[in-house]
Amino acid sequence: MNITIIGTGYVGLVTGVSLSEIGHYVTCVDINEEKVKLLNSGVSPIYEPGLSELMVKNADRLYFTTSHEEALVEADVVYIAVETPEKEDGSVNLTFIERAVEQIANYISNDVVVVIKSTVPVGTNQRIKSMLPANINVVSNPEFLREGSAIHDVFYGDRIVIGSDSPDALKIMRGINEPFGIPIVETDLNSAEMIKYASNAFLATKISLINELANICSRVGADIEEVALGMGLDSRIGTQFLKAGIGYGGSCFPKDTKALVNIAEEVGYEFGILKAVIDLNDKQQHVLLNQAIKDFGELNGKTIGVLGLAFKPNTDDIRNAASLAIIPELINLGATVKAYDPAAMGQAKMVLPKEVLYQDSALHTIESTDIVFILTEWDEIRELDLQEYVNRMKTATIYDGRNCYSLDEVSQYPIRYFSIGRKYQKRGRLL
Ligand code: UGA
Repeated sequence: MNITIIGTGYVGLVTGVSLSEIGHYVTCVDINEEKVKLLNSGVSPIYEPGLSELMVKNADRLYFTTSHEEALVEADVVYIAVETPEKEDGSVNLTFIERAVEQIANYISNDVVVVIKSTVPVGTNQRIKSMLPANINVVSNPEFLREGSAIHDVFYGDRIVIGSDSPDALKIMRGINEPFGIPIVETDLNSAEMIKYASNAFLATKISLINELANICSRVGADIEEVALGMGLDSRIGTQFLKAGIGYGGSCFPKDTKALVNIAEEVGYEFGILKAVIDLNDKQQHVLLNQAIKDFGELNGKTIGVLGLAFKPNTDDIRNAASLAIIPELINLGATVKAYDPAAMGQAKMVLPKEVLYQDSALHTIESTDIVFILTEWDEIRELDLQEYVNRMKTATIYDGRNCYSLDEVSQYPIRYFSIGRKYQKRGRLL
């Protein structure tokens, strides 16, 4: 079976490399020449644990090219894994998908199965099928990969979803995917597309719910960590995705939730819960800032250290991260902002205001500050000795958006410590 993957972004590359690991011959095509050169020399352009090792291990079953003709002419199965960016109105831009479909129509010589990995609005797969010759079958095969653990998720995922109107195409996809040893859900095209959006909508809702509960917990004197554990052990609820914090970010939840609201609107349905989830997440990203303004009156003239810029640890991705919501406001309010992230400063420099003073370590970042905001729970930040805040800050004041430290530990130090959904330690006392 010759498999071709169009698009070597994060999803396409992880998919192609993983398929080569289970024995398939895979050709990946991308228009970016530099990237293809790099890939053919065995180097991954993205950091994803385990990916480079698998690329090297399966080099004889993996090939990268910029030529669609070369990649498609002998293909039996073609995966489309190009990006589907968000348009200004929250709907999905399908230009790259449409271009890929045109290339397929131009160059294939076999009765290929076309597999759509990209996240696309419900009905898109059917539209793609209608753009292709009648003998070409289309399968929707959404991805459920998390950045930073994508390779793990391919091999130990909870399910593989394949949707198609063609029993033959489903059979081929079963054959390709069975070696992963993961339950396979077979369904129709529209339902497969919907499963992807519904899953991300559910997870985003779970996060917004726990964040709302956290905001109530801190007001009624309950502890969200204990509440989350007590709830999560109910197997109908589950312990995962119950970590309260400063809201979700990244490229997926923000984009897919807005897209699903849009999809619903187009069929005359107002998706009330999901609209609230999006709105609450925007508010949640400002929780620390609002508390600091409440405590200090104004932030003009204050020096503020920001620890963590990425939307989650172990990635350099800052898309929709809380840092992007908070830092420009801090600067507008007249604060001096020092910032540090173990991986994301390069990305941050491209989008954050030029006034941000980037530091080479967490310790330099907290030095001589009035306030520290913790926005990403990198291990390096969680492991920072609390005594360092006491020694280095003017008066140790931490607003922790990721609950990095236990209250027992913090209470040993003269630190003013505000976290999410837990007691507020003011001047060495828990309130
Ligand atoms: C997410 C989904 O988890 C994947 O299943 C999905 O395939 C992917 O989107 C996608 O659609 O491509 P990802 O965006 O990489 O993956 O990141 P997550 O690990 O899910 O985290 C998303 C955000 O939620 C982060 O900002 C994280 O800090 C936040 N989060 C997560 C919480 O605030 N609390 C939690 O309990 C879990």
